Amino acid sequence: MFLHGTSSVNDKGHLEIGGVDTLEIVKEFGTPVYVYDVALIRERARGFKETFDKLGVKAQVAYASKAFSTVAMIQLVEQEGLSLDVVSGGELYTALAAEFPVEKIHFHGNNKSREELAMALEHEIGCIVVDNFHELKMLEELCREKEVKANILLRVTPGIEAHTHDYILTGQEDSKFGFDLQNGQAESALKIGIHSDFLNLLGIHCHIGSQIFETTGFILAARKIFEKLNDWKETYSYEVKVLNLGGGFGIRYTNEDAPIPASQYVDEIIQEVKEQAKIFDMEIPEIWIEPGRSLVGDAGTTLYQVGSRKEVPNVRNYLAVDGGMSDNIRPALYEAKYEAVLANRPLDEVEETVSIAGKCCESGDMLIWDIPLPRAGKEDVLAVFCTGAYGYSMANNYNRIPKPPVVFVENGQVTLVVRRETYADLVRHDLPLKVKAQNK
Ligand code: LLP
Repeated sequence: MFLHGTSSVNDKGHLEIGGVDTLEIVKEFGTPVYVYDVALIRERARGFKETFDKLGVKAQVAYASKAFSTVAMIQLVEQEGLSLDVVSGGELYTALAAEFPVEKIHFHGNNKSREELAMALEHEIGCIVVDNFHELKMLEELCREKEVKANILLRVTPGIEAHTHDYILTGQEDSKFGFDLQNGQAESALKIGIHSDFLNLLGIHCHIGSQIFETTGFILAARKIFEKLNDWKETYSYEVKVLNLGGGFGIRYTNEDAPIPASQYVDEIIQEVKEQAKIFDMEIPEIWIEPGRSLVGDAGTTLYQVGSRKEVPNVRNYLAVDGGMSDNIRPALYEAKYEAVLANRPLDEVEETVSIAGKCCESGDMLIWDIPLPRAGKEDVLAVFCTGAYGYSMANNYNRIPKPPVVFVENGQVTLVVRRETYADLVRHDLPLKVKAQNK
């Protein structure tokens, strides 16, 4: 069994997180429930920030809130002094509801609406990461109308493939995101940016993928971008102030994953940027990064009550829990793998190999295939580790299953930060059929 952060086994033999017995959490909040180890989130945040500080480089570490966005999480991000990346009006609204400092918000997205851009301008957020020509034109028009100037970055696709699952590759040429760096699109966008009276082009952004375990992709992306920056310096006398290299730093879900520490990513990225700036005789730009998963992924644990069991002799034993693809769609969507223990007896001996099924009406709703566990039954609570990123944020109401609550634990304290959805919540937007007026 591997334990993250403050997770341990207490003297009652139960899994404890943040100094809180997970069975107490279950007693108070029911199951399923997402539990976040706040101290671990803080540790991860500091891991990124302190490396930049130590190496004396101007930087912004922007938490990619798509990984897990709630008001309390955004407040925690503010406490840790990070910036924030949002990708929709909804994520921006959450940040505003948390009173996050607007100048530290960066707005992403490949199809921002006019309303979303207007919202960003109205709240004077720090930077808009422009993805395409349609957006560039719309943003300029809006700024002209409102007589304001927006800080922007241009998102480019540098043609780098990160080694990860196909669905979460975003930096390669054939991508829906960004201006292509090779075919001249990025340069055309740059010309518009530098000549506009309403746009303040701070620099360039790229994001090469997610759950990446090596720095090579970031380094290659930085090199490709610098080559262009050099051309642009010569042709347009333009030098970037900011280079944003995105997020994507991998975490350990199971033994198969071998992540490197945040400090190593940051250190190697900084060295490369410094080196490139030196080669091309440029000022070292501010380096921005956007970690999502690596800040919250291993800090999250989901607790489920074990329910029914189905044994298929000589084939497989299924153990069902009271959640599934509605609270964690990643196994069904990406074949993502997780580890788990019985929270009420994590040290008990392994007795069988079982597969953990969700409760949704879909054969693909399996949380974990073939995991060794003690023989478990309905008195047991299953703790699935590393569900902190893209779990709650991708939760859904398939089969009209209410979303679980989220609790934060730290120093023996439990704080409910998202309450459990109720059945009434599920129908709150539903309207009845209009009953036609009968003939009078
Ligand atoms: N910046 C940009 C522009 C992004 O598109 C993303 C993630 C990030 C930062 C943060 O990446 P991270 O550090 O979290 O890897 N739903 C998928 C992940 C999709 C990631 C999309 N973009 C999953 O559950 O694995």
